[in-house]
Amino acid sequence: MKALIAYATRYGATASSSEEIAKVLREEGIDVKVVDTKEEKITSISEYDLIIVGSGMQMGKWTNEAENFLAKFHKEFADKKLALFVSTMKSVSEREGKTEDVANMRKVSLEYKVSKYNLQPIALGFFGGVLDFNKMNFIMRRTMSFLKPQLEKDGFQEVQPGVYELRDWNEIRKWARELVTKAIQA
Ligand SMILES: Cc1cc2nc3c(=O)[nH]c(=O)nc-3n(C[C@H](O)[C@H](O)[C@H](O)COP(=O)(O)O)c2cc1C
Repeated sequence: MKALIAYATRYGATASSSEEIAKVLREEGIDVKVVDTKEEKITSISEYDLIIVGSGMQMGKWTNEAENFLAKFHKEFADKKLALFVSTMKSVSEREGKTEDVANMRKVSLEYKVSKYNLQPIALGFFGGVLDFNKMNFIMRRTMSFLKPQLEKDGFQEVQPGVYELRDWNEIRKWARELVTKAIQA
């Protein structure tokens, strides 16, 4: 089985999550190509059996490049096994017990894309990401600064100065392993 992971990131989480998903898939014997769609234009997906599309979220939006990839190839996905995943802030809301917010983030980031492009994915990955205050522009940093005390209170680790890790790597690996099983069965 050949798989393509096509992703786009603003702050880096979707890149490293893509690499981790690729690692799991390779351990399961799948031939995987990982493409940063901001760096490389994908002109054809014909050689792949499994397509995984990943995007980071910002202000309720996917990256333009990952969204463009969906727009360009959505008709061809009908003959493929498809999975989508997103890097989000859901883990902050989860730790705060804001279940309605979490459900809403999932709708905005994944379910709306599925209906917008009439997709039939075999898996949807709804993951945490990173909050990297060093990479935010001035306005974004000011907008997000209110979160810092909340992140500390919720026990998120500052892995480098200004960088908070919001991912559960076990959740990502488990999702990737289950995706392989689904892709083989589908
Ligand atoms: C200015 C800003 C806005 C954000 N808006 C959202 C959002 O609307 N929904 C969400 O789930 N996460 C949001 N996030 C958190 C991102 O999803 C998180 O940083 C993730 O790692 C982004 O993916 P990327 O690192 O691949 O770019 C936001 C982060 C920043 C800095």
